[in-house]
Amino acid sequence: MIARANRIAGLVALILGVVALGGCEKPPQVTGQQGFRGTGMVDVRTPMAVEQALARNQVPAALPAAPPSGTKAGLVFQNVKVLGDTDVTEFTRLMNAMTTWVAPKEGCAYCHDVANLADDSKYTKVVARRMIEMTRHINASAKTHVAETGVTCYTCHRGNAVPQYIWHKAAPGEGGMTGFTDGQNVAAPVVGLTSLPYDPFADLIAAKAPAQAIRVAANTALPTGPSRSIKDTEETYGLMMHLSQALGQNCTFCHNTRSFYDWEGNPPRRATAWHGIQMVRDLNEQFLTPLASTLPAERLGPTGDGPKLNCATCHQGASKPLGGVSMLQDYSVLK
Ligand code: HEC
Ligand code: HEC
Ligand code: HEC
Ligand code: HEC
Repeated sequence: MIARANRIAGLVALILGVVALGGCEKPPQVTGQQGFRGTGMVDVRTPMAVEQALARNQVPAALPAAPPSGTKAGLVFQNVKVLGDTDVTEFTRLMNAMTTWVAPKEGCAYCHDVANLADDSKYTKVVARRMIEMTRHINASAKTHVAETGVTCYTCHRGNAVPQYIWHKAAPGEGGMTGFTDGQNVAAPVVGLTSLPYDPFADLIAAKAPAQAIRVAANTALPTGPSRSIKDTEETYGLMMHLSQALGQNCTFCHNTRSFYDWEGNPPRRATAWHGIQMVRDLNEQFLTPLASTLPAERLGPTGDGPKLNCATCHQGASKPLGGVSMLQDYSVLK
């Protein structure tokens, strides 16, 4: 009897073990040295995850360039508010490209009443017009982050009307017996299935003057001012999990883990990331938050806000979106 009970217990333990391991990444992991020996600047990668990120970041072929007609779109069409200075040939080529990038199945009708292309009654056209302005804004004024590589609609949309990686403000957590949980202990994918708060974005990257600063570490031995709470610190770590996941990199991609707050001895890409954070805050404040009033109810989040972007919206698992290939060079109308 005892032997049998033991066998069953053993079997149950084995099954539970296999189920628990199912949540892990498939071995073998590979490691690479990123800095001087002994500095701990080592990255760990799962080959499968690297392959998936590569597959997701392939670049589609550009539409063939066409000779300019010599006539501006603003003179030919009736309701062109942003692209008026664009040559008609290039205008039409961009309409075709936008269709394949944003609404490949629905075609022109996703944004247009095809009987009257000048009509603005579809909300998608109104949003798209603002998106053209946003794309130009990124390419012109966020060069400290996107360099000359820049972005096109495809960087975020990849054939989807709504980009795959967006976020909304989380609904206030139902704390149950323990009261308000601040979104903890729900193992959310945005924070790497850890028990960190599942919405680090609303406080940290929604606006240019965020509700809270990312820096939490004290840099003096004794307190010299009001100190940051454990809750604030958890949000910083939640955001950092997102940065890592979005770029498909470890913390050592940007930090020398000897000291997270210190900038000395960190790779220069930490500065690029810092500019990325400022850019995301600016885009959410200037473009995405105000667009909520143009969107239909089904696009809004549980608290009524519109979709907003974070690092994953462009990066999608790659340290440089689309492997650093510049699609913008083929569509300079978006510069
Ligand atoms: C993702 C949304 C979107 C898609 C898809 C799209 N368009 Fe447009 N289209 C726009 C926007 C936005 C404008 C206005 C641009 C501006 O104000 O500068 C516009 C304007 C136009 C105009 C000018 C109409 C006028 O008289 O004012 C034409 C022509 C046009 N589009 C043709 C097309 C064609 C043909 C297709 C399909 C191949 C297409 N569009 C697909 C968003 C879209
Ligand atoms: C930096 C990322 C980014 C870029 C670049 C971008 N978009 Fe978007 N787009 C978004 C996000 C996020 C949303 C969802 C928010 C919204 O609808 O207001 C969105 C929504 C849209 C929608 C509404 C779709 C729907 O069904 O609700 C259209 C249409 C659109 N974008 C067109 C474009 C076009 C055209 C371009 C290029 C000129 C472009 N976008 C460039 C991030 C981006
Ligand atoms: C893509 C680059 C990048 C990655 C990856 C990254 N970080 Fe950061 N981290 C930054 C930047 C940039 C800041 C500073 C933000 C600011 O000053 O507003 C920062 C700040 C921090 C801080 C706050 C430091 C202070 O002064 O209080 C901590 C803690 C931290 N990171 C931990 C981590 C951990 C843990 C990981 C891995 C899970 C990680 N980071 C991954 C770029 C990164
Ligand atoms: C609008 C699209 C977009 C968003 C959103 C975005 N990035 Fe980037 N990022 C880029 C592009 C494009 C590049 C490549 C620039 C180049 O070619 O040098 C890049 C490059 C980087 C690099 C340099 C990588 C390397 O290998 O040197 C880091 C680090 C980075 N981004 C971090 C971030 C972080 C962190 C966020 C979120 C706070 C973020 N990015 C949000 C478009 C974006």
